[in-house]
Parts: sequence; structure tokens; C-alpha cells
Amino acid sequence: MKKRKEFLPFGKPDFSSAEMEAVNRVLRSGWVGMGPETLAFEKELARFLEVPRVVTVNSCTSALFLSLLVNGIGPGDEVICPSLTWCSTANVALYLGARVVFCDVDPVTLCVTPETVRAKLTERTRAVMVVHMGGLAADVEEIRAILPKGVILVEDAAHALGSRYTDGNPVGTAGNLTCYSFYANKNLSTGEGGAVVVEDPELAERFVSLRLHGLSNDAWKRFSHPSTALTPALRELGYKMNYTDLQAAIGRVQLRRQPEFSQTRMEIAQRYKKGLEQALPELELQAGVTDPSHARHLFLVLLPRERYFSLSRNDILLALRERNIGASIHYPPLHRMPLYAASDSSGLRNTEDVCDRLLTLPISASMRPEDADEVVGVLADLLQESRVNR
Ligand SMILES: Cc1ncc(COP(=O)(O)O)c(C=O)c1O
Repeated sequence: MKKRKEFLPFGKPDFSSAEMEAVNRVLRSGWVGMGPETLAFEKELARFLEVPRVVTVNSCTSALFLSLLVNGIGPGDEVICPSLTWCSTANVALYLGARVVFCDVDPVTLCVTPETVRAKLTERTRAVMVVHMGGLAADVEEIRAILPKGVILVEDAAHALGSRYTDGNPVGTAGNLTCYSFYANKNLSTGEGGAVVVEDPELAERFVSLRLHGLSNDAWKRFSHPSTALTPALRELGYKMNYTDLQAAIGRVQLRRQPEFSQTRMEIAQRYKKGLEQALPELELQAGVTDPSHARHLFLVLLPRERYFSLSRNDILLALRERNIGASIHYPPLHRMPLYAASDSSGLRNTEDVCDRLLTLPISASMRPEDADEVVGVLADLLQESRVNR
């Protein structure tokens, strides 16, 4: 039995001495909460994304939640999102008392499409959450074109830092509230964290206030502009969802290293594609895995519908884990979760078709391209042994 010596996680961040020095610098400065590093990170991130403004928060979940909140989504409203996503995408609608309506995905891109969204539109629809699955950009222009007036589109770009739309522009530039994650395993990792692209300056100020209790000024502003400390105003009921300078210090370095990370991810994806096409041609890969526009946060593989192998997807996942390969599943669909058992799960044919065949192979900036060859070797061994006579 082929087995890797060390466990290979599906998404391990890469931190160098530069991130460690940056954290040390902030620790020594004595200002570790939200302050100048966060402001600098927001500016640098906006430049990277080619957008006028981003506001950081403590997670992508918070960014998604605030995006619905500032648009007044609440009880009686319907929010459409794919069932094939992380629970945050849907849960934020529930936090606000809205109803979640699941839509289907395309079986090749694994993203929502104008048709799958249209199938779930009603007169109560107020928002559509689009997920750029694995880092492949969904066609937001086409989706927005079919939405009735007053229905907002929010982009869940948790996987999509560095992705581009089909027109070549970076994800985040389409004029929608676009939410990013800096969670532990993301393409840019600061342990936890998130950000939202907000083009409208007034709306951006609302996010700034809502992320910190609804205050008109934060601690750094009160410290650096003492006169503002005299008139703090609690404008509305906000939340404690701010980012911190310790995280921002890491984020600034991770942002500078994106070209290096992106190159590594591309090399890994190319190795996987070549190796899998040769050794296991029955497997399908998500569309665009080696296109420059794909951020390759996840490397998504689909096992064949036909029974070529005696092992199920779950058997394969556990066998890979035994062999020290951290394969994963993105995602067990939300409509099958107990929390969403009562939701409308009609018309999810493609989701039902792909969800038990999807397997995520490890990909990260801390992996070497040779690791991908090893994964292919182990997977091919495993599947050849379980090949059934047809
Ligand atoms: C598609 C998707 N949306 C939202 C999130 C939530 O991100 P965070 O953990 O930063 O709240 C994740 C996190 O994994 C995700 O994968």
C-alpha cells in the first residue's frame, strides 16, 4: 500500500519569517487592536482587487451578514443561494429572519447560473448570493441581468481572492458587495478575518460603523484625532465584528506574496491535471482548473457516475486519509442538513448528481508540485485496485 510519510492537509497556509516579523513589529508597537495596520491592509487590498474601497471585518460570514443587513433584508424576504456551499452563505439570511431558497449549480463549473437562479425567483426574492466555487468566477453580469429591480446580488468570494471574471476583470470589480475570507486555509490567511468590497463611500462608512457597535469612531480614530473622542456617537445597534492589526500585519505580507502563491497553485493544478488525465481518465475535473482566471482555492474532482470502482467517494476519502492524504468534501449540500430539512429542495438535480461524487484534493501554497504527483500516485493505486470488471 502506497502511503505518504507525513500528513498532507487539503489547505495549509504558508507563513514565512516575513509574516512573523510583521507580527513582532505590531506586538512591539503596543497597538494590537484595529488601527493603522488595518487601514494600510484595506488600502493595499483595494489596490490588489482594483476597487475603490474595502472594509475589513472579523470573517467572511460577518461580511455576508452585514451585506444583507445594510440592504434591509429581513422577515418575509427570500434569499437565493446554492445548496452546494459552506453554511455561512445561507445562515446569514436566517440570522436576519429571512427565508433561504436553495438553487442548483452547473454540473461542470459547480457555480450558480442565470437559469438556476431564475428557477427560484419569486416576488418575495430580495437577494441572491453567488458563490465563486473553489475560485472559479460565476457569471455575475449575466445573473444580475435577469434579476428584477430591487433584488440585490452579493458575491461570496471566500474562495476567490485572485479570481477573474470571463471579461478578465478581477472578482470584486462588478459593482456588487463582494465578500472575502482570510480564514486559516484560504488563499490569503490571517487565521480568521474577512473583507467586503463596497464602492459607495456612504455605504462603506455604514459598514465601518456596524462592524464596531454602530459607533461613529473607533479607538484608533479617538487616539489619533483626540477631538473625535469628545463626541463619540452610537448611531445604531452595531456588532463587534472588527479586524485587528495583528491579523492585518500578516495579511499585508500574505497579500505581497500572492503572485508566488498563485504560481505554486498553478503548478500543482497542472501536475494534477496531467497526472489524473493519464492515470484516471474516468475522473472529471472542475471546469477551468488550469485557467489563469481560476484562483484554485480548491482542487475539485468528480468521480464517475458509472460504477468503475467498487469504492464509494466516502470510502476513497477515508482510504486517502489512512494514507496521509487530507482529501476533503466541498460540500455536503445544505438542503440535506438537519437545520435546512424544511427548506425547499426541489429542482436541485445537478447538486444531487454531483454531491456524492465530489472530492477535494489537497492544494495550498505550502505544498510542492511533487506532492501532487504523490497524491495522484496513491489515488491511482487505490482506484486501480478497486476497479470493477465492466
Ligand atoms: C464559500 C464560503 N463562504 C463563506 C465562508 C465563511 O468564511 P469565514 O470562515 O471567513 O467566515 C467560507 C469559509 O470557509 C466559505 O468557504
